[in-house]
Amino acid sequence: MSKMVYLGSNLKMYKGVKDTVEFLTRLSDLTKDIDRSGLTLFIIPSYVTLESARKAVPNASILLGAQNMHWEEEGQFTGEISPRMLQEIGIDIIEIGHSERRHVMGENDFDENKKVLSALNHGFKALLCVGETLQQKELDLSDETLSTQLKIGLSGVDKKDIGRLWIAYEPVWAIGVNGIPASKEYADEKHAVIKDVLCGLFGSDADGIPVLYGGSVNPQNAEELAEMPNIDGLFIGRSAWDAEGFNKIIRATYPIFQKKP
Ligand code: PGA
Repeated sequence: MSKMVYLGSNLKMYKGVKDTVEFLTRLSDLTKDIDRSGLTLFIIPSYVTLESARKAVPNASILLGAQNMHWEEEGQFTGEISPRMLQEIGIDIIEIGHSERRHVMGENDFDENKKVLSALNHGFKALLCVGETLQQKELDLSDETLSTQLKIGLSGVDKKDIGRLWIAYEPVWAIGVNGIPASKEYADEKHAVIKDVLCGLFGSDADGIPVLYGGSVNPQNAEELAEMPNIDGLFIGRSAWDAEGFNKIIRATYPIFQKKP
């Protein structure tokens, strides 16, 4: 049996309730013939859309995630959203440590660690994003950076929970409108580094942790990234925000992923 393929998108601070519901309904419809036993399709829209989004499509079709979460169940944390609130809506995934959370909102590896532990303890899948900045890359610190982000971010994670742990490698310099996509070779090399660190932390059990690539994935580079041995899925921004476009990327890459050993 081939490995599970992971394809998903973070909608960032785009699409309100109406647009999110339309997008999800269309995406679910366009992909309804694809057997989900081999494909995990997921969308991470903004908080305010989550309740309507969950009602619009079943999670057997599209898993839904939150873009962030506070680690405490409740408290004096104005403006934050707790794991209990997200459980109530029926969300599957918590995205943690996206580059914009780290570099625009000032989160650090210790914050991400508390969120990872809380997400796993509350039964969610935790999607931890890691990636080096351009400066770290130029100083030849990429591997050390990834290692630090993983070792702190995953500190204290119990082996029994790693079946619900996903990692996204998103080099900061590759993300967004000014991003330069990583070459397939570079991305694969860093995925191998990440897998090595995961193996150091969890032993052979780490084989089951999917490592997804994100950062300017587009219709031109998606297939070559999918071919790389250490890339288990794609985590896409702009190129997935139109259901037709995302459907094309899914159909182009899913068979490539499936064929890999
Ligand atoms: P992008 O976004 O595909 O638009 O570069 C990726 C991300 O931020 O996850």
